[in-house]
This record gives sequence, structure tokens and C-alpha cells, in this order.
Amino acid sequence: MVKVLPASRAAHAHARVENASHYLNRCYAVERHLMRTLAARFVDTSQWDYKRQLAQDMWEASRHADALRTRILELRYPRRDVDKKHHPDMLALVAECAKGANAEEFIAGVYGALLPELLRAYRGYIELTDALDDAPTVAILQHIIADIEAQIARMRALASQVSPGLFDASAEWQDYLRQVCASFGGISGLEPPTPKPAEHLLAARPAYTIGRSVERDRRWRPALFHLPHENKYDVEGRTAWQRIESLDKRVAMQVWSAISHFNEIWAAEVVAASMWDFDNQPWDFYLDLARWAWDEARHSTMGFRALEGWGWDVPDLIPWGNALYNAMGPMPPIQRLALLHFYEEGLLRAGTKQVELRILESALDDGSAQDMDFDWADEAIHVSYGYTWLRHLLGDSNAGKEEMTRLTDEARETVARFVVEHKDLQEAKLAPYFDRLYDVIAAMLLEIADDHLDIQWAPVVADEEVLKAL
Ligand SMILES: [Fe+2]
Ligand SMILES: [Fe+2]
Repeated sequence: MVKVLPASRAAHAHARVENASHYLNRCYAVERHLMRTLAARFVDTSQWDYKRQLAQDMWEASRHADALRTRILELRYPRRDVDKKHHPDMLALVAECAKGANAEEFIAGVYGALLPELLRAYRGYIELTDALDDAPTVAILQHIIADIEAQIARMRALASQVSPGLFDASAEWQDYLRQVCASFGGISGLEPPTPKPAEHLLAARPAYTIGRSVERDRRWRPALFHLPHENKYDVEGRTAWQRIESLDKRVAMQVWSAISHFNEIWAAEVVAASMWDFDNQPWDFYLDLARWAWDEARHSTMGFRALEGWGWDVPDLIPWGNALYNAMGPMPPIQRLALLHFYEEGLLRAGTKQVELRILESALDDGSAQDMDFDWADEAIHVSYGYTWLRHLLGDSNAGKEEMTRLTDEARETVARFVVEHKDLQEAKLAPYFDRLYDVIAAMLLEIADDHLDIQWAPVVADEEVLKAL
């Protein structure tokens, strides 16, 4: 016999560091792969309200995964395992969720089954652990729980407006996903596993793959381009735009920046697709790209908010193009990132944002100026993301730099060829939009005191050199 004091207090057998890190690692795998899946399904979703919500929730999932990963490493979990050995059951669970047959079913599966299961796992963890010893985890999980509760509430509210009955119509799919989750012992892994629902009618679908072209929300007419600088062959479009410019360069900048922002959705799509296409990159690659894609979706939303703020019927008046993403569809993912970086770096280096901001201030358009100011801050970050990760992917050497130039030049030619091949289609014509818009704008104009700003601005031609060469 030996002598001891009685235990100072009872503790749950599971609430020890090793068990905690394994539990959290399952949650991390779900958040990380949910983030990539939301990115891909954001690209594939055309309905605008769903699309921007998926982008936001994708970014939040990246923040959750990052906080969990940091905490797991604090809990003595080996770094190589947290980065390489993602829990196979959790990957299988998210891979099943990705297979939703369309945007509605996908949403019902994630927000009706997967996220509620994740909430259950987080709440279960807080029940098990010690709020003093494991306080940092509790704080992280309380934050994540609040985020996910808000995500579910927002998406349910949205669905009740956009597609009433969405969750009821996909009850079978949600039930199937819950059975898949239960077969792994739940996300916690602590529940007795149930048999795999292999015989379920919705089982054994082929693996999800991301689309290589996008469609826009059906409320808009099909459009390829959004402003005349994209397509030099659209002479009528340019003339119609010049009529708007002739009202005042300030007016043109107000409208141009809103339409341009709204159409930045293609940049969000390019970055989000890269998060799916590259499946074996360092964690920071995904964290940065999640922010980049969400920023571009926010910029698009900024434009939409400004256009709606003028009281306009946006689907009727504003072209919402898909040419850029679709022209890039056949390219390898690294080439799409290289081209986006080329455009962004060029705009930032030219100081375009400062000029645009000054004109919006001169127009006394506080909302648009604020949008542009934050956009400018975001874009500076994006250029550093592009620089960092393209250098990582291509190698920090002369050969890497040459390959970067080659990829960019080839991509510019591909986009230019796409413009030539599509220039005569009805959806390549912008004059009908700008003619309608001219009347709407002209009826709303205000007079303000002239600040005599010397306005040196014309819409940026993204790639005039390549177009000239054709
Ligand atoms: Fe942007
Ligand atoms: Fe950007």
C-alpha cells in the first residue's frame, strides 16, 4: 500500500491533452475541407444571394480551421500530422456533403446536417473539458459556435425567401449525411459507430468536381462583358458609354466603379477555384486565398450595394459578365492565378485606385469613396498574396520568374482570343445597357459646387497590347 491524498476534484477521463488534440483535430479536418468545399461550390452557384453567403461562410470556416490548428499545435500535437494526416473519416464526411446534386441540395446538406453536427461536437467538447485548464480552447469554440449558429440562421432566412421549402425538400439528403456522420462515431468520434449507409438510395454518387465555366444568376440577362474596355470591338458599346461620360467624368466614375466592383466576382471565382484545385499546399496558402476570395466577393457586393443604393433595378440595368472566368476555364489553375496577379499588380502599380478615390471624393459620393478606400487596402494585400504564392508554386529562381512571364503572356493571349471568338454575340454588346442607364442617370443628376479637380482618367484597358497584336 502507498499513501496519497484524496483527489482534489473529479475530472472527466477524456479531458486530457492528448485526447483533446485528437478531438479537435477531427473538427479541424471538417472545417478545413468544408472551407475548400464551400469555395468550390461558391464558384458553381449562380444564385447571387446564396453565392455571396457561401463566400462569407467559406472565409469564416478558414478562420475556424486556423484557430483550431493553432490550438492543436499548442496541445503538443505533431506539426507534420496536423498538416498532412487529415482524419480520413472526416474527409469522407465532407466529401459526401460536396456531392449535393445542385446548389439547393448542397446548402440543405451543409446547413441542415453538417453544421448542426459540428455544433454538437463543439458543444460536446465544452461539456467534457475543464474550463480552467483548457480555457484557450473553450474561448475558441465559443466563438466558432456563435459563428456557426449565425451562419445557419442566415442561410435559413435566405432560403425561406429564395427557395421556400428548400430544407424540407432535401430531408432525405440531410438524413443520409447524418447517417454517414453517425457511422464514424459522430464528428467527436466518441459515439458508438453505426453501420455505414452503403445501401442508402443517395449513397455512391461520383465524387464532386468543380465546374470549368460559370453562369450568372438567372435574374440577369446573359452577358460576357461589363464595361467597354474589355472588348475593343464593341464600338456601339463604347459610344454609349461615352455619352454617360459626357454627363460628367465624376458621374462616369461613380457608375464605372460600382459596375466594375460588382463584376469583380470573377476574381473571387478564380481564387476560390484555386483553393479547390490545389489540394496539397501549406496551410497559409489556403488561409490567404480564403481571405482573397472573400475580399473579391465583398468588392462585388460593394458594387451591388451602390447600384441598389441609387434605387436601380440592377438585373435590368447592369451587365454581369462571365467572360473572364470562362475564358480562363481551360487554363491550369496556376495560370489563372498568374493572370489575376498580373492584372492586380498592374492596377496597383499604376496608382489607379488613388485616382479613382480622388474623383469619388470630388463627386461627394461618400459611400463609393469609402468602398474604394477599403478596396484599395484589400488590393494591396492581394498583390502580396499573389507574389508570395506564385513564387512558392513556381520556385524563387530565374527559371520561376521566366515561367511566370510565359504563363502570363500565354494567358493574356487566351483571353484576347476568347474576346475575338465571342465579340459578335448579342451578349457581348453593351450599348443596350448603357442606353437604358443613360436615361436613368440623367434623370437623377444633382448639381454641386465645382472643385475644379483636374480629372485625368479613362477606364483602364486591361490588356490593350495583346488586343492590338491580333
Ligand atoms: Fe477586388
Ligand atoms: Fe483583388
